[in-house]
Amino acid sequence: MAPSPEFIELSNNNITDKSLDRDCTTLSRHVLQQFESFSPQAQDLSALMSRIALAGKLVARRLSHAGLMEGVLGFTGDVNVQGESVQKMDIYANDVFISVFKQSGLVCRLASEEMEKPYYIPENCPIGRYTLLYDPIDGSSNTDTNLSLGSIFAIRQQEGDDLDGEAKDLLTDGRKQIAAGYILYGPSTMLVYTIGKGVHSFTLDPSLGEFILTEENIQIPAHGSVYSVNEGNFWQWDESIREYIRYVHRTEGYTARYSGAMVSDIHRILVQGGVFLYPGILPKPEGKLRLLYESAPLAFVIEQAGGRATTGLVDILDIVPKKLHQRTPLIIGSKKDVAKVESFIQNGH
Ligand code: AHG
Ligand code: MN
Ligand code: MN
Repeated sequence: MAPSPEFIELSNNNITDKSLDRDCTTLSRHVLQQFESFSPQAQDLSALMSRIALAGKLVARRLSHAGLMEGVLGFTGDVNVQGESVQKMDIYANDVFISVFKQSGLVCRLASEEMEKPYYIPENCPIGRYTLLYDPIDGSSNTDTNLSLGSIFAIRQQEGDDLDGEAKDLLTDGRKQIAAGYILYGPSTMLVYTIGKGVHSFTLDPSLGEFILTEENIQIPAHGSVYSVNEGNFWQWDESIREYIRYVHRTEGYTARYSGAMVSDIHRILVQGGVFLYPGILPKPEGKLRLLYESAPLAFVIEQAGGRATTGLVDILDIVPKKLHQRTPLIIGSKKDVAKVESFIQNGH
């Protein structure tokens, strides 16, 4: 007996079910789709992103149990190369990325905010000539109060042999990054990445253990109402930044949002528009944020989404660092809002 028209329609609906298609768009498949090929580079990048996703899942799992386990919260008592107190989660997350990339055959070196020198994985080097740069936990002061945190990452291709172990080839501009993104540990865990072909977000489905596509080709609004800055530093800023803040105070339509973790602040701005600032302060004119592990990866993401990132004088992606742990002032977000801050810095209004 021939199937009824209703039956045929039902079956077709099932086959083309959009939600099923979306459920199958995992991160590694998405990276391959972006390349439109199975070239060696496409496969490498897909494998690299899968490993980063695994690191994110391990960190997210530990954070979700933090209040139930011994030894997760609190400080280690040590101070890192940045002169900052180290949280136990900083060390755990730093080690997670190392473990995940050991024996992966993908990454020859890892350079992190938490390590004075890069970590070398010599057995990977003959095959995997990539370097992972990362901030294992961004916003770590939020850890003990169960607030949003992040991880930031960038991938670069190793140039030269690095025989002296100084990783000098990493002292190049941010346009050399081949991939970058962040993981946001919020009410859900999200991964946002770019390989220079737009910006895409994924949400971790805990029941599948997979990051599933949430939004493709995210475009940051040209302007937004949010300004995100630690106003506690007001009297330590340059007068031009103080003037900009006075301008937003007296202009209708601005609202302040600052979480203590730039990954969440910048994610809000990516979706809703606005500007995040961490300017220099009197005792530290270069500011707080690290170029290679924080500012440059986030600048790559935001530029790919149609936004901008600058020190106020030069684009973040054009800065050539002199040392691995170099800091930069950072103004990042919607084009028009970044331009406004820039105009205060360059012209005083
Ligand atoms: P990290 O936890 O990696 O040191 O980064 C924290 C950064 C950034 O995420 C955040 O916006 C900023 O530092 C907070 O610093 P203040 O407390 O000085 O505002
Ligand atoms: Mn950070
Ligand atoms: Mn950090």
